[in-house]
Amino acid sequence: MQKINSNEIVTQKFILELNSALAMENAGVERLQTRINEVSIPEAKQRLEHHLKESEQHQQRLQKLITDLGGNVTTEKLGLPLPTYPQSIQQVMDSSMTMQEWELKKSEYDMIVENAEVGCYLALLQKAQIAGGVLMNAIEPLSLNLKDEQSMVDWIKTNSPGMLAQLWPQI
Ligand SMILES: [Fe+2]
Repeated sequence: MQKINSNEIVTQKFILELNSALAMENAGVERLQTRINEVSIPEAKQRLEHHLKESEQHQQRLQKLITDLGGNVTTEKLGLPLPTYPQSIQQVMDSSMTMQEWELKKSEYDMIVENAEVGCYLALLQKAQIAGGVLMNAIEPLSLNLKDEQSMVDWIKTNSPGMLAQLWPQI
């Protein structure tokens, strides 16, 4: 019987997690492209464009990590953690919300998505630290990705009152 190295199992499990993060970034990049086109506030558009470039770097970092560990990179996308409302609420939202209300709502979704990314990288980082060995190589790229996600969350949080102030009079 072939002996399975326990380090190898940990590495395989970690590759799976890295690919999950990559699938999240793949979905995130697609969403950011849509968001850039629909957002009306210039500063928000600019920040989203900046984060799109960062997200492409995140993909590259994850792809390199996965390849270096001997894994195959995924091109698939996960389902983003966006709220699904009860039908009765969704119907009223669809029939009554103005463009400006949707813009605020989607900025709220941006915050949810970016916070989920923070959580994902934080968990991965902690696992890399506890696993040690070859997975220590993941710490720097994961930390860089985490930093960008956190600064995106912080930007939305800091700028949401300004966005609200701009859009509220039009609601
Ligand atoms: Fe992000």
